[in-house]
Amino acid sequence: MDRIRIVGGNQLNGIIPISGAKNAALPLMIASLLTSDTLTLENVPHLADVELLMRILGNHGVDVSVNGRRETQNGMYSRTIHFTCRTIADTTAPYDLVSKMRASFWVIGPLLAREGKARVSLPGGCAIGTRPVDLFIEGLTALGATMDIDAGYINATAPKGGLIGAHYTFPKVSVGATHVMMMAAVLARGTTVIGNAAREPEVVDLANCMIAMGAKITGAGTPTITIEGVTSLSGARHRVLPDRIETGTYAMAVAMTGGDVTLAGTDITLLDTAVSAIRRAGAELIAVDNGIRVIGHGNDIRPVDIVTEPFPGFPTDLQAQFMGLMTRADGVAHVTETIFENRFMHVQELARLGARITLSGQTARIEGVKRLRGAPVMATDLRASVSLVIAGLAAEGETLVNRVYHLDRGFERLEEKLTRCGAIVERISD
Ligand code: UD1
Repeated sequence: MDRIRIVGGNQLNGIIPISGAKNAALPLMIASLLTSDTLTLENVPHLADVELLMRILGNHGVDVSVNGRRETQNGMYSRTIHFTCRTIADTTAPYDLVSKMRASFWVIGPLLAREGKARVSLPGGCAIGTRPVDLFIEGLTALGATMDIDAGYINATAPKGGLIGAHYTFPKVSVGATHVMMMAAVLARGTTVIGNAAREPEVVDLANCMIAMGAKITGAGTPTITIEGVTSLSGARHRVLPDRIETGTYAMAVAMTGGDVTLAGTDITLLDTAVSAIRRAGAELIAVDNGIRVIGHGNDIRPVDIVTEPFPGFPTDLQAQFMGLMTRADGVAHVTETIFENRFMHVQELARLGARITLSGQTARIEGVKRLRGAPVMATDLRASVSLVIAGLAAEGETLVNRVYHLDRGFERLEEKLTRCGAIVERISD
């Protein structure tokens, strides 16, 4: 199993190209099930989750054709992929695939909308909490679907004539359930109003892509989304928005190691709350043409308290990285996780590097230390693993991050991007 070896202590200087967002690319790819025409997506990141979803969509009848990667200015890669689903070949999403990636459960929305039925495995447990599917079931039931659970599968059936538009308010904000409701409602008869919808930029990206395909959607990015159903969608060409989590991660790495890095191909307005937290911690973040310049000082990191919340609040996907940054703060910081229970697995591993963190319920108290020291650590989930990488960059000596397959799910060419900025990071394949 691959490991990442980091020798910490170097500042980061140069340009880091930001990839297309994984969390936008996945629902956009799934939306290709809604039309028999070709959906072309530009700026698709090369990640294990994206490659797996291509295989899953292939099972459902999507023909995938990848345009070779082109290296452009600043070392950016541009990857364009065409998805064509002339007919749905299979409405079943089996356990062995859905259990590998929770987001593949989202095919339930378009399959139900286009074919009137779907049999999708329940996603099963997940390292960062129970992550149930009750909101998906309630939302699709509101559109007239019959939802039965049988032998670990959800059998969803639309009424004769297809799903029917409805007013439905989520009791809790969910990104995935909002994606699925939108994908189901675009082909439903009549008007759907989704209340308490997720406002994440990835929801807006999916809405914009479906609008380009002919859907009638207003209000994406606000808590109320209104959808007028149409009878069919066409193909479209859409560019995946930049990855705000990757952007925030590298900004925090520079804040921690010190240096001067331009994050290219991203947009500061995608992560206002995180930007403000990183600035309060002492780094300078400046919006530049098509990117963000980050100037970090490496020392004198100020303690900042954060609470994770649905967008536009501080993203849970940046919580572990921010905790990494706070381990070197000049004082005590508190990090509170409100989205997922059990999303503190990085705490034990950061402690191995010398961090002083105590947990009380959903809040971590981090007492900053002058220096971290490299150690072998274990990656436990995607965002936790990258927090260990950035802490390793700021630690003295060698850090070995084990089980890096988590990183490959969400961070494109991480070692290459960091090495180009002066870090000592290498992958060791056993
Ligand atoms: C998405 C992101 C993930 C991010 C998360 C929160 C993708 C591929 N993944 O995950 O990176 O961390 O948003 O920003 O985009 N919940 C229920 N019942 C449900 C569905 C969700 O109780 O039916 C709960 C979850 O357990 C969690 C909360 O709602 O506590 C938010 O989860 P949700 O927004 O659905 O996360 P995902 O869409 O799975």
